[in-house]
Amino acid sequence: MMVSGQADAKILVVDDERDNLLVIAEQLRGAGYRAVTTVFDPFEALTLLAANHFDLLLLDIMMPGLDGFGVMARMQQMGAEKQCPVLVLTARMDEKTRLRALREGARDFLSKPFLEEELLCRVGNLLAMHLAQSHLATLNHSLEAAVQERTLQLEERNRQLAQSQLEVLERLGRAAEFRDNETGLHLVRMSRYAERLGQALGLDEPTTTLLLHCAPMHDIGKVGIPDAILLKPGPLDAGEWGVMRRHPEIGANILAHSRSTWLETSRVIALSHHERWDGMGYPQGWHGEQIPLFGRLVAVADCFDALTSARPYKPAWPVARVVKTIQEESGTHFEPRLVEAFVAILPDLLAIKAQHSDGENG
Ligand code: C2E
Ligand code: SIN
Ligand code: SIN
Ligand code: FE
Ligand code: FE
Repeated sequence: MMVSGQADAKILVVDDERDNLLVIAEQLRGAGYRAVTTVFDPFEALTLLAANHFDLLLLDIMMPGLDGFGVMARMQQMGAEKQCPVLVLTARMDEKTRLRALREGARDFLSKPFLEEELLCRVGNLLAMHLAQSHLATLNHSLEAAVQERTLQLEERNRQLAQSQLEVLERLGRAAEFRDNETGLHLVRMSRYAERLGQALGLDEPTTTLLLHCAPMHDIGKVGIPDAILLKPGPLDAGEWGVMRRHPEIGANILAHSRSTWLETSRVIALSHHERWDGMGYPQGWHGEQIPLFGRLVAVADCFDALTSARPYKPAWPVARVVKTIQEESGTHFEPRLVEAFVAILPDLLAIKAQHSDGENG
């Protein structure tokens, strides 16, 4: 009847009657249990319980000084790892005592006097249950550890993936800007302008960070524009302008059909950054809030940097003229609310500009 592992189960027997203790210990040892501890003083029992792990406690109820209920109550205060199943030994087996013992932590009862066979049966059952539970708990624990380890690995992998995506995005943006803007500082500045403008609008941190990382993609479609047009020192003729105006759609096509939030956000920005509030922009001719917010916002940031910088086709303008132009275009080119925010944070934008100046524009 003894299940494997039971022979080494640690059993503590607590009974103030020494004769009882001796009989129980002898019967348990006779049945093959090798780790039986007996104690007649309930306080000593508590000391043992606090310091050791037991798999089963055989506990007398009526004891002087501290009864079995008191022992169970203090045991329960010891913390989960000190808990073990309790088999209550008692002569007084009225309904009330029985219920109270169950309520207060007993698993099973044995009424004194008891038959040896009944003792061994109940002990065997409780131990089998307890050992199975412990085994299960250990399994669960290692399973949890394995899952946690795997989760950490996946998180690290995702982080690396996100990092390399970000890097690819950055390089893609640079590739586009490289030909008409060799230092790449236009992208750094305009994306920081866009981020700052987003903050001024009250967008939350994840949103402004998304904006910061996606805004540099706005002109990715310029990779499809020939050098003869892109780098032309003077104004474009109608045919050249027709080609140039295709860069938002070229960019959107490059970025299309991705499950990545970053690429999708970049696509929306590339497509909509030359729309105008009054509907006179390109390629869709959207107006007002038809234009995605990021597109409206990047339009302001992009133009502010384009106007304050030298381009192959134009010199850098003085800041005062740039601000005046952007204000004049409030309600036509730009959303008025954005122009107001732009003016309010102008000192911050100028600080960003000074910090990332390539010397082309003083
Ligand atoms: P970009 O140089 O990055 O300029 C972005 C936007 O800044 C322009 O979009 C425009 O809204 C604004 N911007 C730039 N320069 C001026 C300016 O002198 N006056 C005014 N009012 N706004 C200005 P836009 O006009 O749709 O142009 C898109 C892109 O087309 C420009 O990007 C640039 O690469 C090219 N482009 C525009 N005009 C010319 C040009 O006259 N010659 C050449 N070679 N390229 C041009
Ligand atoms: C424990 O889970 O170790 C205490 C309860 C029991 O096993 O019966
Ligand atoms: C990713 O996990 O795909 C990167 C972040 C994002 O695109 O949302
Ligand atoms: Fe553009
Ligand atoms: Fe640009």
